[in-house]
Amino acid sequence: YMSIITFFTWIHVLTFQRRNCFQCDTNHFCNCSSQNFLQVPAVPENVIDLDISFNNIESVEKTDLSLCSELEILYMQENKLKRIHDEAFRSQSNLVVLDLSFNKLENIASSWFHDLKSLKHLNLLGNLYTTLGSKSVFQYLGNLRTLKLGNLLLKKVEKNLLTGLTQLDEMTFIGHNLRSYEKGSFNTTRPITAISLSLNGLFQENPSLVSKILRDVSHPKTSLTIRDALLNTNDSMQPLEEVRKGGTARLTLQNISTTDEAVTSLLKVLGGSPVSYIGVEDIQLRGEGWWEKSWRARYDNLSTIFVRNVEIQGFFTFSSMIQLAFLLKHPQAVSVINCTVFVMPCITSSLLKNIEYLDLSKNLLTDVTIQETLCYGAGVMHHLNTLNVSYNSLKSLQLMSKLVTRLRKLTFLDISHNDFRTMPQKCDWPESLRFLNLSATKLYRATPCLPVSLTSLDLSENDLTVFHLSLPNLVELNLSGNRFLHFPDGGRFPRVNVLLVQRNTLNVFNKSDLMSFKHLQYLEAGLNNFVCSCEFVTFFKGDVDHLVTLRDGHDNYVCDSPFPLRGQTVDSAQLSVFECHMIPAVSILCSMIVLTLVLFGCVTLIHKLHRKPAVHRARENLRYDAFVSYSQRDAEWVEEILVPKLESAQPPFALCLHERDFRPGRWIVDNIIDSIEKSHRTLFVLSQHFVTSEWCRYELDFSHFRIVDEHNDSAVLILLEPIAKQTIPKRFCKLRKIMNSKTYLEWPQEEERRKEFWSNLQAALKREDS
Ligand SMILES: *[C@@H]1O[C@H](CO)[C@@H](O)[C@H](O)[C@H]1NC(C)=O
Ligand SMILES: *[C@@H]1O[C@H](CO)[C@@H](O)[C@H](O)[C@H]1NC(C)=O
Ligand SMILES: *[C@@H]1O[C@H](CO)[C@@H](O)[C@H](O)[C@H]1NC(C)=O
Ligand SMILES: *[C@@H]1O[C@H](CO)[C@@H](O)[C@H](O)[C@H]1NC(C)=O
Ligand SMILES: *[C@@H]1O[C@H](CO)[C@@H](O)[C@H](O)[C@H]1NC(C)=O
Ligand SMILES: *[C@@H]1O[C@H](CO)[C@@H](O)[C@H](O)[C@H]1NC(C)=O
Ligand SMILES: *[C@@H]1O[C@H](CO)[C@@H](O)[C@H](O)[C@H]1NC(C)=O
Repeated sequence: YMSIITFFTWIHVLTFQRRNCFQCDTNHFCNCSSQNFLQVPAVPENVIDLDISFNNIESVEKTDLSLCSELEILYMQENKLKRIHDEAFRSQSNLVVLDLSFNKLENIASSWFHDLKSLKHLNLLGNLYTTLGSKSVFQYLGNLRTLKLGNLLLKKVEKNLLTGLTQLDEMTFIGHNLRSYEKGSFNTTRPITAISLSLNGLFQENPSLVSKILRDVSHPKTSLTIRDALLNTNDSMQPLEEVRKGGTARLTLQNISTTDEAVTSLLKVLGGSPVSYIGVEDIQLRGEGWWEKSWRARYDNLSTIFVRNVEIQGFFTFSSMIQLAFLLKHPQAVSVINCTVFVMPCITSSLLKNIEYLDLSKNLLTDVTIQETLCYGAGVMHHLNTLNVSYNSLKSLQLMSKLVTRLRKLTFLDISHNDFRTMPQKCDWPESLRFLNLSATKLYRATPCLPVSLTSLDLSENDLTVFHLSLPNLVELNLSGNRFLHFPDGGRFPRVNVLLVQRNTLNVFNKSDLMSFKHLQYLEAGLNNFVCSCEFVTFFKGDVDHLVTLRDGHDNYVCDSPFPLRGQTVDSAQLSVFECHMIPAVSILCSMIVLTLVLFGCVTLIHKLHRKPAVHRARENLRYDAFVSYSQRDAEWVEEILVPKLESAQPPFALCLHERDFRPGRWIVDNIIDSIEKSHRTLFVLSQHFVTSEWCRYELDFSHFRIVDEHNDSAVLILLEPIAKQTIPKRFCKLRKIMNSKTYLEWPQEEERRKEFWSNLQAALKREDS
């Protein structure tokens, strides 16, 4: 009898035991997403945050979640949910977020929500329900703040849909195929702060239905977004009359396809409305931006226009910009971003003379058209506080400064992502300028053009190597992504609080570098070419955190050399006591041990360190014609041009590349010694970058080899780009000497001269005996 019970229990377990998901972190967040669950998995009872999205779950049963009473977040989107038991969420009185979107629910039942007293965010988008609202489904959700609902099958929205939602702040609705909407369905006792409607073709197919919807959602306190719509005809704009009547103050049109004709109609319909903000984003306009001036009404309250990503068949014409400006009585902020604007006519600027904020980024402005746009420097927009003309095609910084010099209130100027290249010695900025953004403008030198009034300067992503100016008011300085070899001198920036120098070619920095800044608090200096010397590693592990906050985290500080430490974080670099105190250790040893022993020891040591390749290398040992030494940054040239060329020559050259031919598992320096011993010549591919930042490592690692001697003819040098001798750091005297004494092969920019280059190179690599 007992065994029968056991048997049945066993069967029961076998059939009904749910799979587990115990992948939880210390915050009781269990991520069970994308694991092919067919049922709600068993999870720890103390789970707070549960993600079971992207599975194949078909139902939520009564007891599936009954033990998880602490649940606050439940993601169940993208499953195959058809059924949710009426009491499935009975114990979830703490639930705040519930996402049921993109499942197969055919009905939404109010019973599910009966106990979700804390629920604030509910997503029901994209299921199979075709009707919404027959019985006030959300009546128990008095705390709900955001609600997303609707799908492509939804036909009918009925009254009372939002009954009981007294705290709703945001609603997103999708109803591309709606057939009926009962008046008042979107009414709430308190206006919703933001509503987004996606109605697609309904504007054209059923404007009167759209009018009914817009009537319920247009309110001075409701910011309205109409997205994913076709607005091609005059009639399709008519429903927007409700927006005007309802007194909507903020209107955004997003992802719209429209025509000149429809825009004209829109301007007419909305004319005289109290709207103060119009946003227009991701628009495809079939036409030329020529909007017939048949409206009379103006837009007295419109203060902000935000236009982004407008694709127009023609360019934004002069006239459309002028027309827009005429509409506005009190404009304060105008943004026209990524709209192929190549000029804003001066007359428009004059009409906008009171604006404070102008953003014309990501357009086609040039040195010629920016002059017209800024009225040849007359300072017409005399209230302008912020000007953004980043991502255009401006070339002259001096011109730019002249054009803004009479804008007496200009404080923020963003001219990043232009093509300045050079900085003149003198510029004419307005005294009010505080924030200047010159990021990614191809500058290679900083000059006194930069005004002392600045408090924030962004010079990131340029080609600067030094900075010899003093900017006494600067608080934030961004020099990331340049080619600085030395840490900036803090004496020049007494107020700098935030300094960014990531992605440069710094080798080290030390306590006195940081102390030279009187007010430095935050530093980001990772991703440089750190030389993990004893001093640097000791300083970094010990002192750095007491001096500054490293905002980019310790893990970005990685050793570039010496070779054995390459790729390790500075924090994890282990230097032995012997390496760090080589000289004292050796001298103590020497004074303590019998002289002969010492001599013997030193000789052995020196012999090891200077393991010289055999002078008479047996010919059969020379497996390779050349060992190629190059910087990672030049790898593309080496691997795609040099190697194929030489390896396909007649007869082919055998090349040794460390990437390809190093034997795994051996110490890298051994590998190099080995490769050089087995190679007839060593080919150095030199570029500016290699020389200024990586030669150091080579001297360190190869100094034992005579190969870097100036008289050694086994080294062949290729100059990938012209290298100015004065840019080679003084301490690399060997390199300077080599470059003085040796002839090197220059990689020609001109196609015609390359043939000659290849034949010279092949001659230099050829073995005398072959
Ligand atoms: C859960 O993990 C998946 C990847 O398996 C990830 O895409 C998802 O964002 C994670 N969920 C959360 C809430 O972080
Ligand atoms: C919905 O609200 C609007 C304005 O808030 C009001 O005019 C209208 O009568 C309401 N409709 C219903 C059916 O309650
Ligand atoms: C649309 O409006 C334009 C002018 O605003 C007018 O020329 C055109 O006839 C109108 N089209 C329709 C179908 O009403
Ligand atoms: C400068 O502009 C770049 C992009 O052009 C932007 O990423 C950066 O945040 C800007 N810098 C500042 C300080 O705002
Ligand atoms: C440069 O640093 C500033 C902070 O000082 C930051 O706001 C800005 O975004 C940075 N620029 C870029 C291009 O990341
Ligand atoms: C710190 O480094 C700088 C170069 O960056 C050097 O001039 C200075 O002597 C170093 N100071 C100390 C105390 O090592
Ligand atoms: C050049 O260096 C190689 C390898 O280190 C060595 O074998 C050769 O003897 C040297 N040649 C001269 C002329 O010093």
